[in-house]
Amino acid sequence: MSQTEAESPQTSQNANEIISTRLKGKVAIITGAGHGIGQAYAARLAAEGAHVVIAELDEKSGNDVAAQLTGIGRSALAVATNVTDPKSLENMAQKTLESFGRIDILVNNAAIFSTIPMSRSPFDEIEIEEWDAMMAVNVKGAWLASRAVAPTMKTQMSGKIINISSGTALKGSASRIHYVTSKAAILGFTRTLARELGPFGINVNCVAPGNTLSEVNPDSSTLSFRNAGANDRALKRTEKPADLVGAVAFFASPDSDFITGQTLVVDGGSFMH
Ligand SMILES: NC(=O)c1ccc[n+]([C@@H]2O[C@H](COP(=O)([O-])OP(=O)(O)OC[C@H]3O[C@@H](n4cnc5c(N)ncnc54)[C@H](O)[C@@H]3O)[C@@H](O)[C@H]2O)c1
Repeated sequence: MSQTEAESPQTSQNANEIISTRLKGKVAIITGAGHGIGQAYAARLAAEGAHVVIAELDEKSGNDVAAQLTGIGRSALAVATNVTDPKSLENMAQKTLESFGRIDILVNNAAIFSTIPMSRSPFDEIEIEEWDAMMAVNVKGAWLASRAVAPTMKTQMSGKIINISSGTALKGSASRIHYVTSKAAILGFTRTLARELGPFGINVNCVAPGNTLSEVNPDSSTLSFRNAGANDRALKRTEKPADLVGAVAFFASPDSDFITGQTLVVDGGSFMH
């Protein structure tokens, strides 16, 4: 991997470049957009003209991301949000409506992921509390966030919900079964929610990223773990947040209006189906 790839994993394009205006006037909530790949989704949706809401547990990072975006002329709002808390999610929906008047897009990106150790966690050594926390954020959080925006989307008779799974749920992994199980749940969640919300003109789709270099300043072991992902891909390089934003923007846009219940694997050709 080149030095440049390691330096700026968040940036999907020149910050001031307008990619397209297909999301002009749309209102997009991205959970967990204060760091990592979620931050890149927010930047891309804003670059395509959406008003973006950074719904992030880490209030300072959420505010920083919103300030960066407004600083380059985008429309962004930070709302401190805990996706495990229904009241916090009601507040997220309410603040979005107060500021922008509608909710068109929800990206269920928040998850416990980068904070779990890279070292092996065999299934019988995982603490029960850690299992429960993983499910509360990664699975229940997506359900509660969808529940918070659905009434508005139903009234509008339109909306796009994009869930984030992981390639590891399709391939299996020899470690971290709680994370993999939570991401497998998102596949079934996507299909069922798509069937329930389809009659209201709401699309529900899923993106399954591969092993992605989402850390801003990765240490050497993280970097070698991320780079190792290149070995079993058809496209032999490290995956970056910039590789994922196009898929999310597509599912957020009218270009995917007749696609629902689908999972798009974005991993450079590691898992093929
Ligand atoms: N990086 C990868 O290799 C990879 C691979 C496949 C899937 N994914 C998925 O992509 C998404 C983003 O991954 P990432 O690498 O950027 O992870 P990350 O840990 O950098 O980002 C997760 C974000 O969610 C936030 N968050 C955590 N708990 C929250 C809560 N209760 N309420 C609101 N926000 C909360 C965190 O503060 C953080 O900003 C996750 O859903 C992850 O499972 C990542």
